[in-house]
Amino acid sequence: MRREISEKRKQRIEGVLSRRQKDLTLIMDNIWDPHNVSAVLRSCDAFGVSDVHLYYTTSQWPDLGRKSSGSAKKWIRLHQHVDAGAMVEVLNQEGGQVLRTGFSPTARPVMDFDFTRPTAVVLSNEHRGTSPELAALVPDEVYIPMQGMVQSLNVSVAAAIILYEAFTQRHGAGMYDAPSFGAAELAALRADWYGR
Ligand SMILES: C[S@@+](CC[C@H](N)C(=O)[O-])C[C@H]1O[C@@H](n2cnc3c(N)ncnc32)[C@H](O)[C@@H]1O
Repeated sequence: MRREISEKRKQRIEGVLSRRQKDLTLIMDNIWDPHNVSAVLRSCDAFGVSDVHLYYTTSQWPDLGRKSSGSAKKWIRLHQHVDAGAMVEVLNQEGGQVLRTGFSPTARPVMDFDFTRPTAVVLSNEHRGTSPELAALVPDEVYIPMQGMVQSLNVSVAAAIILYEAFTQRHGAGMYDAPSFGAAELAALRADWYGR
């Protein structure tokens, strides 16, 4: 039986959906620790990421159970992939960019990218870094400049920093002021969210 939904909750859903960014997404590349996965999803919800792509070929998608961000997972659409080529092709929208994290000599700092463009960022496994077949398809590397003795951040922290940079740029460009989804997509999402 369908639950009654209050006017207040409807308004909250409307506001959140109107700020969702349909063309800003992450690819989780075999991130295995459920705490990290949960934390990444929580940041996605916070910065208005609507869809997340899961590339799990060497690790299993973790059981998130009732972890603290179970509620964040509820508001993000997850898409599973096993074919890196097909996934990158779909995400490489016209005028857009697919980036991966990395520190090779051609990598550029996060502040150098234009995140107002349709963007997908690959966040990778805690130990192995980016899957080689994915790296071969995604030449552009983004990094968060590190000033300390330790060489890398926790993957969920890296995700939050990259998303915050994207949020800052998009917010400045007014991209959170009007819905990025069209009316039909919004209606479908609204109907789905009312039932959650
Ligand atoms: C602990 S790091 C992985 C370190 C791994 N040994 C490697 O060679 O990539 C886990 C993930 O966090 C992200 N990450 C960590 N530090 C980063 C940074 N400074 N800039 C961008 N991404 C970072 C990347 O997605 C990385 O694959």
